[in-house]
Amino acid sequence: MASEKLKKVTIEPLTRVEGHGKVTLLLDPENQIKQARLHIVEFRGFEKFIQGRPYWELPVVVQRLCGICPVSHHIAAAKACDQIVGVNEITPTAEKIRRLMHYGQTLQSHALHFFYLSAPDLLFGYDDSIRHRNIVGMIADRPEIVKQGILLRKFGQEVIRVTCGKRIHGTGAIPGGVNNNVSQEQRNYLLTDIDNIINWGQEAVYLAKELFMTDLEHNKTFACIDTNMFALTRSDGAFDLYHGGLRAKHADGTIIFDKVDYTEYENYIKEEVKPWSYMKFPFITSLGRKSGSYRVGPLARINICDYIDTPLAESARKDFIQISDGEMVQSTLAYHWARMIELLHCAEKIKQLLHDSEIGKNDLQVKGTMQESGIGVIEAPRGTLFHHYEIDENSLVSKCNLIVATTNNNAAMNNSVRKAASDIFDGRKLSEPMLNAIEVAIRAYDPCLSCATHALGKMPLEVKLVDNDGNLQDRLIKNSDRSCQRQP
Ligand code: MG
Ligand code: NI
Repeated sequence: MASEKLKKVTIEPLTRVEGHGKVTLLLDPENQIKQARLHIVEFRGFEKFIQGRPYWELPVVVQRLCGICPVSHHIAAAKACDQIVGVNEITPTAEKIRRLMHYGQTLQSHALHFFYLSAPDLLFGYDDSIRHRNIVGMIADRPEIVKQGILLRKFGQEVIRVTCGKRIHGTGAIPGGVNNNVSQEQRNYLLTDIDNIINWGQEAVYLAKELFMTDLEHNKTFACIDTNMFALTRSDGAFDLYHGGLRAKHADGTIIFDKVDYTEYENYIKEEVKPWSYMKFPFITSLGRKSGSYRVGPLARINICDYIDTPLAESARKDFIQISDGEMVQSTLAYHWARMIELLHCAEKIKQLLHDSEIGKNDLQVKGTMQESGIGVIEAPRGTLFHHYEIDENSLVSKCNLIVATTNNNAAMNNSVRKAASDIFDGRKLSEPMLNAIEVAIRAYDPCLSCATHALGKMPLEVKLVDNDGNLQDRLIKNSDRSCQRQP
């Protein structure tokens, strides 16, 4: 096997990406990086664990899948359960409350990622001194930005608390609807801060844009790969995080498919298993394994939609697509900018919903005739999330398939890592800037490794260079304080 003759460079866990990751770079005999392999241990155990449980437990139990995005799993499972209880359409009140919950979750997740995990790289550059590369360094240098980030996140968490009962592991969404409305008092409470939240959302978009434009040529090409894009889209082409049909575009922007009922997703995407990875590789069936991989998440969603139905985010989207003259924006680092446009959109949507008297009504749940299966799909903060269940005659789960956003981005993340590493690798030795570049490439996708992995805790970063005959040539260790040492 030719691939076994390739040299291996192994990179141990990434900092500031939740969970545990490991990268292997495969070199050819000329010391060019042929392939990058991001090893993520997918939490397949859950799909088995959930079997035999009653379906109505799903929206609550699936929140244990992930400590980072429990609300996304909660809502996707609830949508699947709507179908199981034979409900095609929940009440307007229930849908609006679920949307409120979902926008709150997306807002807090995007704020966490941008201000806590990514901004140190973006603000100070990844070759900057160690002290800037964590939140403490940021607070010292840019306290106002960090404060806004903290308050944006807190607001999103408050929206979740109001709609779910708790910040995490709440029970807001139930099969066929929701279990509680939003009172006038709760609406007034959240409305108190909403104009500040929208202003800070706009400032976050400006900041993300400024950071991107500051070093435009580098940011446009860093870890950049041309890919297909995939997202739910409303039937009129509008951006929609909660519901829609499947839409996919080629890298050149032409449509692959559109307005596809997501309960038929198995006819449009397939998941490939590779021997070296626990995480599957989904691809668009009609394009095949080789060219069918795609990207999901903020970058894909902003590229895929025809417009955004809130004015400030729509104006930010128009501004955004100009960086590629209206063509698809393929720059991996543009994920950060797209993410802040979404954060702004969520803030605008939350304000609209809080002014909508329907969220205070009592028509919360619809009942229907039991079905044998249900499929729920949403645009989670990190991208398209699929929950698919079948139940037996005793209403117990007999089959479960999940495709999480990070799995959808699996192939693209590997390719971005290869690009980022190749551009900086001198063909001989590993270097700290190279390790940092790999981390920055992965972090742009905001992978939910704790969703897709068994989190094993933080370990120092270890990089190995192994020659063609399997001998260790070089080893670079990055400690948890981010100091680096070369070991013989
Ligand atoms: Mg699966
Ligand atoms: Ni997750």
